[in-house]
Amino acid sequence: MGVPVRRFDAVIVGGGGAGLRAALQLSEAGLKTAVLSKVFPTRSHTVAAQGGISASLGNVQEDHWQWHMYDTVKGSDWLGDQDAIEFMCRTAPDAVVELEHFGMPFDRLENGKIYQRPFGGHTQHNGKTPVQRACAAADRTGHAMLHTLYQRNVRANTQFFVEWMALDLIRDAEGDVVGVTALEMETGEIYVLHAKAVLFATGGAGRIYAASTNAFINTGDGLGMCVRAGLPLEDMEFWQFHPTGVAGAGVLITEGVRGEGGILLNANGERFMERYAPNLKDLAPRDFVSRSMELEVLEGRGCGPHKDHVLLKLDHLGPDIINQRLPGIREIAIKFAGVDPIKEPIPVIPTCHYMMGGIPTNYRGEVVAPKGDDPEVRVNGFYAAGECACASVHGANRLGTNSLLDLVVFGKSAGDSMIKYIREEMPTWKDLPADAADRSLARVARLDGQTGGEEVADVRAAMQRTVQSRAGVFRNDANLKLGVDEIAQVADRARLLQIKDKSKVFNTARVEALELENLVEVAVATLVAAEARKESRGAHAHDDYPKRDDDNWMKHSLFFGSDRSLRYKPVHTKPLSVDYIPPKERTF
Ligand code: FUM
Repeated sequence: MGVPVRRFDAVIVGGGGAGLRAALQLSEAGLKTAVLSKVFPTRSHTVAAQGGISASLGNVQEDHWQWHMYDTVKGSDWLGDQDAIEFMCRTAPDAVVELEHFGMPFDRLENGKIYQRPFGGHTQHNGKTPVQRACAAADRTGHAMLHTLYQRNVRANTQFFVEWMALDLIRDAEGDVVGVTALEMETGEIYVLHAKAVLFATGGAGRIYAASTNAFINTGDGLGMCVRAGLPLEDMEFWQFHPTGVAGAGVLITEGVRGEGGILLNANGERFMERYAPNLKDLAPRDFVSRSMELEVLEGRGCGPHKDHVLLKLDHLGPDIINQRLPGIREIAIKFAGVDPIKEPIPVIPTCHYMMGGIPTNYRGEVVAPKGDDPEVRVNGFYAAGECACASVHGANRLGTNSLLDLVVFGKSAGDSMIKYIREEMPTWKDLPADAADRSLARVARLDGQTGGEEVADVRAAMQRTVQSRAGVFRNDANLKLGVDEIAQVADRARLLQIKDKSKVFNTARVEALELENLVEVAVATLVAAEARKESRGAHAHDDYPKRDDDNWMKHSLFFGSDRSLRYKPVHTKPLSVDYIPPKERTF
């Protein structure tokens, strides 16, 4: 095959919260475990998570996992799988206490218990009143979690491959996953990592949008690899817009600001969320708040010279709360908006934040794909967790703080499934196919050999313009149809990418081109799936179909990249131990 081969029991692609939690499980079980990461693990995008991790600990007010489950199902606009949602919400208190025992430095209440703050859509008594469920380490919860998990992994002897980029999934003749190819970014050398089991924990792909809270590394690498390996992507039409990105900069201002008492104001100084969500107000779920903000701007009540944003006011919280609970937010506001929130409000707009869809998995972290009439057959040896996976716990709209929870719950669950698979079904390594590295070698050779083609920056800008303008907070048929055509043209251009700097030192140009190929797969899936869904549900707000249509559309989409086709599969309506939560109108 001509490329070096390294062997591990388990290979994990991605060093964020989900990858590290899974790796810890595997390494502590004594399995030889490799984690590949494009950046040093503690720089993974989990580090940017601010406000908290949800769990019904009830440290401040009465709370129950069943209420958390209800909120998550309602938040998902009934597209979430109720078995997976029950699993996540029921496991949450243990997952958080486990992090505490790992040494994660949560904020504390006077009585020494973990501090909890309110967050959008989290309530008591199934929607009656907001509840303090988000366990927080100031406004740096992801940072605290990532460092804790990294240190535990060092102790457990996980092997880290830092500044390595996975290129392609390796499947054998039966379709089983037996490894990945990867680029060592420093040297430009391509390797085969042969494994009994592979986990993708590659995070999001928010860089398909022009304005995004996502890091530059969030390029949908796992999704691109799945598409190229013939596997489907689920529910790609659903993208979350976080209500409070800094206007013009995209940087995240945590929902924890509103959890601590911050409020949104329009140009008339009106607390407009009282009109849209009389009960939860500024703490309604994100899809709801983002649409309300956009409507304020569209109806002429936006702020600033261009009337294009609203204001997040928190000065009334006082300097003590701001400095103690929201120190990072103050710093971001000063640096990126030029305002000190102790004195002035922060200009904010809804900004792309999170991908609800992803690689189809079940709640055990196993990747599933259709085979014959069965829509969910396990792909042997392949697992996914975290934002790149679609379990599906977030359905059409994720609740804030359920993402950090998703990482640790499904990272651990996938790790357990991998241990079982490796021990019980994989006594030894399956053979690598003879052409294991061919696709990756050809991709890199094509990029290196291409002259007179397309510049990466130009194609990326065209992709971002298309996705931003065609698949935003509000969508409509005409716009989505244009978007499908435009993104097909972008995909054609992406086949002709050329890189000017062919030096192999850190491979920056090469890596950007490879990342763009992945982003374009995600962008195509997004527009094709969004154009096809003729209803409004969660984050997919369709002007021509303003209502949710459970009779025809309470189903998951599956996008196949080979012919850009869609199939659909049913939502899981059987929780594990409690009664089904039937759909109803979503009001707040
Ligand atoms: O608003 C935030 O702190 C973001 C949290 C999340 O996306 O879960």
